Amino acid sequence: MLYNSPNPLHLWKKLGTSLLCLALIFLTSLAKEAAPPEKNSLPPAASTKVDFKRDIQPILSRNCYACHGASTQMNGLRLDNRNSALSGGYSGVAIKPGNSAESKLIQMVAGVIQGKIMPPAGEPLSREQIGLLRAWIDQGVEWPDESSSVGKEPTHAPKKDHWSFQPIKRPRLPVVRNRSWVRNPIDAFVLSRLEREGIKPSPEADRVTLIRRLSFDLVGLPPTPEQVAEFLADNRSDAYERLADRLLASPHYGEKWARPWLDLAHYADSDGYEKDNARPHAWQWRQWVIEALNNNMPFDQFTIEQLAGDLLPTATLKEKIATGFCRNTLTNREGGVDPEEFRIEQVIDRAMTVGTNQSEGILSAFRILQYRQRSQH
Ligand code: HEC
Repeated sequence: MLYNSPNPLHLWKKLGTSLLCLALIFLTSLAKEAAPPEKNSLPPAASTKVDFKRDIQPILSRNCYACHGASTQMNGLRLDNRNSALSGGYSGVAIKPGNSAESKLIQMVAGVIQGKIMPPAGEPLSREQIGLLRAWIDQGVEWPDESSSVGKEPTHAPKKDHWSFQPIKRPRLPVVRNRSWVRNPIDAFVLSRLEREGIKPSPEADRVTLIRRLSFDLVGLPPTPEQVAEFLADNRSDAYERLADRLLASPHYGEKWARPWLDLAHYADSDGYEKDNARPHAWQWRQWVIEALNNNMPFDQFTIEQLAGDLLPTATLKEKIATGFCRNTLTNREGGVDPEEFRIEQVIDRAMTVGTNQSEGILSAFRILQYRQRSQH
């Protein structure tokens, strides 16, 4: 046929066209197969009957509740009880009972929705786990009432058995064998533990060592040679107690013990960023802390004045200076800084500084500071 053709070029053209058609058909069929890519890349549903408590709840609680549980519902989605789970999140229903392939939850954990996968960080769910979730949805989203968290919400009431809420009680003094070693009630506790461990107390340190230790502990400075001589020459039975009283009364006591608090409060004499401008008045708050310690200010007053001294009725200048605590955040004075973004950063820094590891503490501190910062702008 080829050789019979009067025009080989024409023939090539014909052949080319049919090849092109073939290729097109082939490609179209490929495209057809790839049309719903989501469904094809979903792991198959497990073929067994699933049991919510055994198969499903552990997957959800381990991988999802941190962000979709009782305390946090990212994108409005809560997955720790049937009703909330079925009502979905901000973008609508996430579980379609009987149809796992069309359920957003499955598509999200399988990572077939572009750029999104749940959980968003850490190990993705295994194909087996996704298969179980699929079977659970296909089998009608069984969820026994007793596995539902409804009615078991955290109440946000303080835990009554937490140590800090216990009334202060005088503990009974432990009974010890070597009673002559005990000079004050605290010694009894120390000795009772040593005796339980079968350890003898060390002999008392010599007087020069004692005054050095006590000086470093209370004022952060070594004793002068005169102070050492004076202590060595003091023959009274309460010479050590007198030394402790003298050091506690020293103005250096507040300087030494303000330091950990200044560190915790992020105290600095300059902005701490970029131009790092000086804060010419920052020392006033530092001085307030030193004086508070030297004057033995009670801790509740110490806390109230630093958080809100300026809001006290007829606040004094000192009480206002105390709130310098709230101003210790790193300050960014760069040209391009977004004031609102930076205000939020400051609020968070202060909330973290005030709060302890207890999220409740952080939250209430955050509210106070949000309020404060708003009233300052
Ligand atoms: C670290 C937090 C985090 C964890 C853990 C997490 N998610 Fe999410 N989830 C998010 C965030 C954030 C979004 C919003 C994402 C978006 O729309 O881009 C979201 C959205 C979703 C949505 C869509 C909700 C809607 O209406 O928009 C589903 C469904 C979902 N997650 C399921 C899960 C499942 C199932 C798990 C556990 C296997 C899980 N997520 C674990 C943070 C998390």
